[in-house]
Amino acid sequence: MSVLFKGGTIVSATGRTKADVYAEGDRITAIGSNLDYPADEVVDAAGKYLLPGAIDPHTHISMPFMGTHAQDDYESGTVAAACGGVTTVVDFDLQQKGETLLEAIERKKSWAEGKAVVDYSLHPAVMDPRPEVIEEVKKACQEYGTPSFKIFMVYDFRVDDATMIKLLEETKKYGGLVQVHAENVYIIQHMNEVLEKAGKLAPYYHAVSRPNIAEEEAIARAVKMVELTGSRIYIVHLSSKEGLWKVKEARDRGIDVFAETCPQYLLLDEERYKEPDFNGAKYVMSPPLRTAESNAALWQGLKGGDLQVVATDHCPFDFVGKKDMFGKDDYKKIPNGAPGIETLLILLHSEGVVKGRISLERMVDVLSTGTARMFGLKDKGEIAVGKDADIVVFDPEQKFTITQSKLHMNVDYTPFEGFEITGMPQLVYSRGKKVARWNGEQMEFVGEVGRGRFVKREPFEGF
Ligand code: URP
Ligand code: ZN
Ligand code: ZN
Repeated sequence: MSVLFKGGTIVSATGRTKADVYAEGDRITAIGSNLDYPADEVVDAAGKYLLPGAIDPHTHISMPFMGTHAQDDYESGTVAAACGGVTTVVDFDLQQKGETLLEAIERKKSWAEGKAVVDYSLHPAVMDPRPEVIEEVKKACQEYGTPSFKIFMVYDFRVDDATMIKLLEETKKYGGLVQVHAENVYIIQHMNEVLEKAGKLAPYYHAVSRPNIAEEEAIARAVKMVELTGSRIYIVHLSSKEGLWKVKEARDRGIDVFAETCPQYLLLDEERYKEPDFNGAKYVMSPPLRTAESNAALWQGLKGGDLQVVATDHCPFDFVGKKDMFGKDDYKKIPNGAPGIETLLILLHSEGVVKGRISLERMVDVLSTGTARMFGLKDKGEIAVGKDADIVVFDPEQKFTITQSKLHMNVDYTPFEGFEITGMPQLVYSRGKKVARWNGEQMEFVGEVGRGRFVKREPFEGF
């Protein structure tokens, strides 16, 4: 199968070039002017951008959590990804008690087998840090192709600081990267008690119970452990301006602290929790939405380079029957998480690039090129000869109003309902095969279920 993309503008992290792109099989094999190769399919890309497929390195596909499970499985989750121009997903793989990391990886791979429609990889989440599990970091980096390790500083399955130090020591040796959900659990426990006594249990109090200072303190502590070990760390779903300051301060001192944020922390604020009829529950996620001040600071962090990646933290639970049932009388019982994998690229383009908050090139960097470098996806993240033909033909003028009924995620709402979008994918290719197209009203999946492959990643090489 070969595809010739004619007359488009290739966008990279550093610039734009008008050129034709030729893909043969899985890979891009030629880029140049007026390419005249025989092809099974010729795509007229005049007036369109050719973007590298976006990479979402933070998803929770089918994750068991808070008495239920995240609703997208590998089929619905990756179909939604494809329709949003996301051609690689790096999903969290929560180690269960007694499992080795390899067993956890094999278990989650078996969930993806025959279902994934775009390529995927896994970050093992260390939840049972037995000494032999810490030792397994070497193999995960060198053999399993999973050199990034998630740890939680909150929730029942959090790890303690001693474990974090051990993991940092071990990842430093083998090119691993520790990813941290940074919130101070004791601040949250205290706030929960105070709010409970006061009978303050509506969704808004979820935000009050997890103040910015909880994120700030946890990041500061994690940074100290990086200083102690000389290792490196990646903060997931950074949400607050105070958290960003801690990242920036560490980076200014030359410490290897990296961070991602998510569209929800750039675009939504805590006023959402006050929506009537319990609708505020739709935004219950951890960390919580902050204020407009944090939104603005995060855009600056993205533009200035202190944030290197935008991911989604895609973790969908229905509003009806899950969010509105489990936590009706207590915000603490509302399943934490929200859907987002399908709206990542279009939100970042429309709200970021079109509104002048970041450049188109920066968007490509934080969604694709930089993400691939951060997580060792050596064949992804760029439109270049030899790379996988993961290509989004993007129409920067196409309008679309985000609404749940036109999306593919297996959930009954989107936190971005009503957002007016400028710029939509027109065609999406995963390793040279068309997986989604714009049908004039919405994106449509046209790929093959089960074609997505597990991608082995390389150890961290610096950023
Ligand atoms: O609320 C969230 N973020 N749910 C998913 C799990 C996590 O903490 O990332
Ligand atoms: Zn988290
Ligand atoms: Zn998450």
